[in-house]
Amino acid sequence: MKRIGILTSGGDCSGMNATIRSAMRTALGKGVEMLAYRKGFLGLIKNDHFLMDNRSVSGILQRGGTFLQSARCEEFKLETGRQKALANLHEAGVEGLVVIGGDGSLKGALTLHGMGFPVIGIPASIDNDIPFTDMSLGVDTALNNIIYAVDCIKDTASSHARAFVIEVMGRNSGYLASVSAIACGAEYAIVPEVQFDLSDICAHLRHRFQEGRDNAIIIVAEGAGEAKTIADAIKDAIGFETRVTVLGHYQRGGAPSVFDRLLGSRLGKRAVELLVEGESGKMVGLSCHSIVATPLEEVVRSAKMPQEDMLRLAEMLGI
Ligand code: F6P
Repeated sequence: MKRIGILTSGGDCSGMNATIRSAMRTALGKGVEMLAYRKGFLGLIKNDHFLMDNRSVSGILQRGGTFLQSARCEEFKLETGRQKALANLHEAGVEGLVVIGGDGSLKGALTLHGMGFPVIGIPASIDNDIPFTDMSLGVDTALNNIIYAVDCIKDTASSHARAFVIEVMGRNSGYLASVSAIACGAEYAIVPEVQFDLSDICAHLRHRFQEGRDNAIIIVAEGAGEAKTIADAIKDAIGFETRVTVLGHYQRGGAPSVFDRLLGSRLGKRAVELLVEGESGKMVGLSCHSIVATPLEEVVRSAKMPQEDMLRLAEMLGI
C-alpha cells in the first residue's frame, strides 16, 4: 500500500485531530503517503484533498474540532455520489481510507467497503452511542465541559435557591446526561432511553424543598424532553424558582482531555496498521483498555445498550 486517505465526518469532536496526527505519523513510519480529505465524504465527492506531510499535523494535538473540517453529507447517500467518490479515490491513487465519525459515518464506511474499497472506521461521537467500543472519541472531553458548566451553575443555583434544568446533548442517548449527573451530584438525570414521570420528579423535589433543600439540578438529554416544559412543570408544582440552561455546542469543543488524546492516538495508529496489513470493513474501538477491531457490519446493525447501572447510580445518589 503506497497511499491512504483520511477524513472526519458527521458531528466534530475533540480528539479527532489527535487521531489524524497519529494516523499520519504511523503511515509515515511505514513509508505510506496520506491524502487528507476536507469536509468528510463531501471531500471525496468534490475531490477536495491535499497530501499531508509530517508538518501538516504539527501543533494540532491540543486543538478541539477537526482541522480537516467535517460535514453531514447527503450526496453520499445517493448512488451517483458514491460512484463519484469511488472514482475519485481510484484516480487519486488512494488504496485505503480511514473514516473518523459517528454512526452515520461508519455506515458510509461500510458502504465503501461493500463497493470493494478498503476502509477502517474510528468511532467519534460525544453521544457514546456506538457499540463495540467502551468509549468513542470526544465523550470524555464533552463530559469535562459539562461538569465545568454544571459546577458553575450549582454555585449560582445555591446562592439564589433555584432549580436549574440543564439540557445536554444526546438525541437518542442519555450517556452524557446520566454520567454528568453522577459526577456533578445532580438530583435527576432525564434520558431518552427511559420513560419518565414528571409528577414523580416534582413530588420528589417538593419533598426535598420541604426539608429545606432549596436548590436542585436536573440534567436532561436533548432527546428526552423539552427543558423549558420540565422547568415550568417544576415551578408550577412546587413554586420553586426555575431557570433553564441549554449547553448546546459548547459541549463539543475545547482542548481534548488526556483520555481523548490518548484514545485518538491509539485508534489512529491501529487503523493505519490494519489497512497496511490488508484488512478492511472494520472499526477499531476500545474494549477493556485494549484496542480491538470489530466488523463494521456488526457495528452498524447493533445498538449500544443504555448503561442502566449509570442511570440507577444517578438516581440513587440524587436522593
Ligand atoms: O451526534 C453528536 C451530536 O452532538 C448530538 O449529540 C447532537 O444531537 C447533534 O450532534 C447535533 O448536530 P449538529 O451539530 O449537526 O447540530
